Amino acid sequence: MAWEHQQLVVRRGERTGLPVAVAIHSTVLGPAAGGCRLWQYPDWRAGVEDVLRLSKAMTYKCAVAGLSYGGGKTVIPLPAGRVLTTAEREAVLEDAADIVDSFGGAYLTGPDVGTSSADMVVMRRRTPYAYCLPESEGGTGSSSGPTAVGVLAALRAAARTVLGTDDLAGRRVVISGLGSVGAIVARSLAGGAEVVVSDVDDAKRRTAEELDLSWVEPEKALATPADIIVPAAVGGVLSPETVARLDCALVVGPANNQLTDDSVAGALAGRGIVWVPDFVASAGGVIYTLSRESDRLDHDGAMARVERIGDTVGTLLAQAHANRSTPLAEAIALADRRLSGS
Ligand SMILES: NC(=O)c1ccc[n+]([C@@H]2O[C@H](COP(=O)([O-])OP(=O)(O)OC[C@H]3O[C@@H](n4cnc5c(N)ncnc54)[C@H](O)[C@@H]3O)[C@@H](O)[C@H]2O)c1
Repeated sequence: MAWEHQQLVVRRGERTGLPVAVAIHSTVLGPAAGGCRLWQYPDWRAGVEDVLRLSKAMTYKCAVAGLSYGGGKTVIPLPAGRVLTTAEREAVLEDAADIVDSFGGAYLTGPDVGTSSADMVVMRRRTPYAYCLPESEGGTGSSSGPTAVGVLAALRAAARTVLGTDDLAGRRVVISGLGSVGAIVARSLAGGAEVVVSDVDDAKRRTAEELDLSWVEPEKALATPADIIVPAAVGGVLSPETVARLDCALVVGPANNQLTDDSVAGALAGRGIVWVPDFVASAGGVIYTLSRESDRLDHDGAMARVERIGDTVGTLLAQAHANRSTPLAEAIALADRRLSGS
């Protein structure tokens, strides 16, 4: 991989001895933004690889969203099987916060996989550059709601292009992952569309029953015949093998890093399936948080920015059609234009 990041810090936490990795991919458009991931990895090097990949994705997410922010990320790679006590967890978050603080505002962090708004309160002890605190602490809390609003804006814009309408009455939408974002998307679409949901957590069946939604086993979700598939669980779900089994017109959802590699975007287009790039569809949370907490917009102003994801998706799909390219290629080109100031 060619070196294209601005900085990578991997430090042994002075409180815990655990490694913490912070990568700043780009500050060309403004301070780098990206959450703090606390997750188990087979090896700390895998965590470093992840922080490089994720920080770059944040640069593209912010650039396509039209934000004056760049891309960064923190990864705290825990050894497989390692469970932290409350004290150890707070200590390693403070270790990470010290690194965040050392950038003096050139990098802003927030919750990510394995961390929450409550963890940002811990990081705030050491740095003012931790965002998304709970509302009770003066922050904007969980970003799942704005993320879901952005996904819905993307979904409706793409439906207008692909299905000729954003009226989803009678259309089947399969949502894989009934977590915080997936459940909000499911609730919003229920009543109009035929919503089918799926989760590896069997307890989520009860949520599906409460909402009167159909259930499909997780291993069958993506291949279920549908108008729209919404990946709302984990990354890496779209590979050449899974794409061959898709039976839908449109794939759009919040899960990060859905493609096993960028060539899968070509495989999707080759099958006539429109895929809205994840870093476009999932930007609502970061747009809302930065707009409120850093740019000081009010709720309505921040949500208006989130809703603009729909316009972006409409433009990208039109360009992909006109240029016989993919929405991914158009999204990358848009980000590159913004990054180069052209
Ligand atoms: N929450 C946000 O603001 C936000 C922002 C941007 C991107 N994302 C991404 O969107 C996705 C969903 O986020 P979330 O906050 O709802 O996460 P979450 O952890 O609340 O929910 C994820 C759900 O997916 C389920 N799941 C895991 N593996 C699965 C599988 N193989 N098949 C079906 N279900 C599976 C989990 O049991 C869980 O219920 C994640 O990839 C996340 O990184 C979230």
